Amino acid sequence: MSTKTICIASGKGGVGKTTLSINLAMALAESGQRVLYFDADMGLANAQIGLGAESILNIGHVLNHLVSLPEIVLKTPHGIDLIAGASGLAELANLNQVDTSNIISQFSSLPDEYDVLIVDCAAGISQSVLSFLEGCQLRVVVGTSELSSIADAYGLMKVMVGDLGLSDFFFLPNMVENERQGAKLFDSMNKVVQNFLATKLNYAGSVPREMLVDSSWRKATPMVKLAPTSVMTTAIRKVAAGLMSHRGPAFSARGVQFFMERT
Ligand SMILES: Nc1ncnc2c1ncn2[C@@H]1O[C@H](COP(=O)(O)OP(=O)(O)O)[C@@H](O)[C@H]1O
Ligand SMILES: [Mg+2]
Repeated sequence: MSTKTICIASGKGGVGKTTLSINLAMALAESGQRVLYFDADMGLANAQIGLGAESILNIGHVLNHLVSLPEIVLKTPHGIDLIAGASGLAELANLNQVDTSNIISQFSSLPDEYDVLIVDCAAGISQSVLSFLEGCQLRVVVGTSELSSIADAYGLMKVMVGDLGLSDFFFLPNMVENERQGAKLFDSMNKVVQNFLATKLNYAGSVPREMLVDSSWRKATPMVKLAPTSVMTTAIRKVAAGLMSHRGPAFSARGVQFFMERT
């Protein structure tokens, strides 16, 4: 069995990585996939809030060698297994390569089998984010139409192409007005990437701005459950299907891969 590994990253913070990760995880779980969610934002971990779970142990305890990774896997009420992130620990926000590789390789020792792993990253281009991007088969850069988000998304993609040698990744526009505006944002980003980075972005759709997202966070109930027929949920399902049907690139030659020893 092999696990499809999906890394969700962004240049700028607050563009919706966690909101989309949670709802993609839910959409996949509802379609019968066994999903593991890794909250890899070591600075501002909040996936457990959105997933309605409370964890005493988190990745910080693993990094401090107090427990091993399998011991912190949490069953959430929505049927997704969660590896909780550590919040507010500045030293964890900037992990070195040894620690990051160590975490990634520990995934191979998890007892349960998963169809999908979602890695919800911190924003930006820290060492750990780059290692997590390298360690996954599918990479998704989330961005909005805000100018600073566009600039920072491009900055991240530039590092992904130039420093990591990656060429096969998605750009996922979030908080768009409608599908057309999402496609337009994708196209303009894709043009810049083709012109300056000599590669093409993958498209899996976009996600609209939706008023209910705030209350879905407050109620700890993902949008896919709270509003199963909403435009946003429909868009999320489409993105999930698009990601799953993508024939991910072969493992990159560099870096440690999630679940490498299992494939
Ligand atoms: N599609 C959306 N529509 C409306 N609000 C959204 C949407 N996606 C995210 N948000 C809101 O944007 C803010 C940042 O989202 P979050 O998922 O925490 O971003 P990130 O993980 O990238 O920092 C949150 O307040 C969230 O409710
Ligand atoms: Mg987040």
